[in-house]
Amino acid sequence: MRNFLPKEAETMKYTEQVTRELAHLYCYEEVITPIVESYDLLAAKSGEEIRNRMYAFNDLGGRRIALRPEFTASIARLIATKMMNEPKPIRLYCCGSLYRYDEPQHLRYREFWQSNYELIGSNKPEADAEILILTYDLMKRLGLRDYWFKIGHVGILRGILKEEDIAEERQNQIMQLLDNKRWDKALTVTQETGGSKTATTTLKKILETRGKDVPKILNEAKSVVSNYDSAVDAVENLQNILDLVKESGVKFEILIEAGFARGLEYYTGMVFQPYVPELEREVGGGGRYDKLIELFGGEPTPAVGVANGIDRLVLAMKKQKVLTKTKAERRVMVIPIGEEMRAKAMELSLMLRNVNIPVEVEVVGRTVSKALQDADRRNVTHTIIVGPGELQEGKVVLRDMRKRDQKTVEITTLVDSFEREKYAR
Ligand code: HAM
Repeated sequence: MRNFLPKEAETMKYTEQVTRELAHLYCYEEVITPIVESYDLLAAKSGEEIRNRMYAFNDLGGRRIALRPEFTASIARLIATKMMNEPKPIRLYCCGSLYRYDEPQHLRYREFWQSNYELIGSNKPEADAEILILTYDLMKRLGLRDYWFKIGHVGILRGILKEEDIAEERQNQIMQLLDNKRWDKALTVTQETGGSKTATTTLKKILETRGKDVPKILNEAKSVVSNYDSAVDAVENLQNILDLVKESGVKFEILIEAGFARGLEYYTGMVFQPYVPELEREVGGGGRYDKLIELFGGEPTPAVGVANGIDRLVLAMKKQKVLTKTKAERRVMVIPIGEEMRAKAMELSLMLRNVNIPVEVEVVGRTVSKALQDADRRNVTHTIIVGPGELQEGKVVLRDMRKRDQKTVEITTLVDSFEREKYAR
């Protein structure tokens, strides 16, 4: 787990802020869920990989609990237990830290941050399309370039396996193997669990059905799975979703992978991951999960969502040299000359903060010249020097640190002079 020094923390918070503004623009309301949840709840459909990597322990009351490895289980619990009667659709946003006991390596941390958007209560392709468009919009608003989305539909693989009467547990195992790119092993397990010859040849072909020409690849996928009706339905559903995205006018590169499986077990429909060329791993992941809310005791409720990795987005921005400067335009330091002036310096700092100007007060008793040197080092734009002589006349010295020029101003006009300067720019 990492520490974030001020500059890194600022970029993280900037990115988080952009994700929050996006939530606001798409009318997703923020919810805050606990970092610790029941182990069983988090483990229910997280998939073997995440299940094995949870920080799980017994609390003092003997309950089995874990640090959340993702948000979706908590959101599904929230819907099932507290929001079942809310009018649908429900759009929820959350943002915070997650924990997975991953091998620490480039782009994989044990503590990381996600911004997470869930659209609950619609099984229509327009809901899937909204989640894709929102994710594209986030990449755009962060200033990223050349991003592309890998998109698939778990209904294609599951459709084949289900029609072969392969039990869900085995299906999960096969999907996990596919997610880890262990294709040969996945085919062997399919055969061993009674999958027909047609099933293995279809799976093999579907795993090769990938490419950027969306209509062509989807037509190919449809003919590959033509023996399996529910897999054909899945391809058609994906076609509908992507037609909507295209017709909405947004443009981003898409790689269709008909055999795409994500590790999480709750997915039932479209799944996707956005990438940037500079990072070898995806920056986000999402998809449709129509059965999770009922698993937690709610009514059957379809849902689709996405989580974007803030750490990875920050790295992507760094690699693409995207500027995230949010530096305040002005930053003021108030310097008292001598101990008698300290209280006045504090009073003036409060006056300026009241009109939203960031102010720090010199608090280590430096001489004026040393304090000015320090102000330069801290990128202070203006200093206010409070000395007994000027103060007697109700004045202070206001110094513009960039122009290296100073004047004596009435305290009563101090706020105005900042305002005037702002508008003169
Ligand atoms: P996920 O693919 O497990 O999906 O994670 C989403 C994103 O979180 C990843 O694409 C990555 O950016 C980031 N992430 C995951 N693990 C790490 C790690 N160890 N270090 C750094 N970043 C990481 C989910 O979590 C689902 N809940 C997404 C979802 C929401 N599906 C539907 N709704």
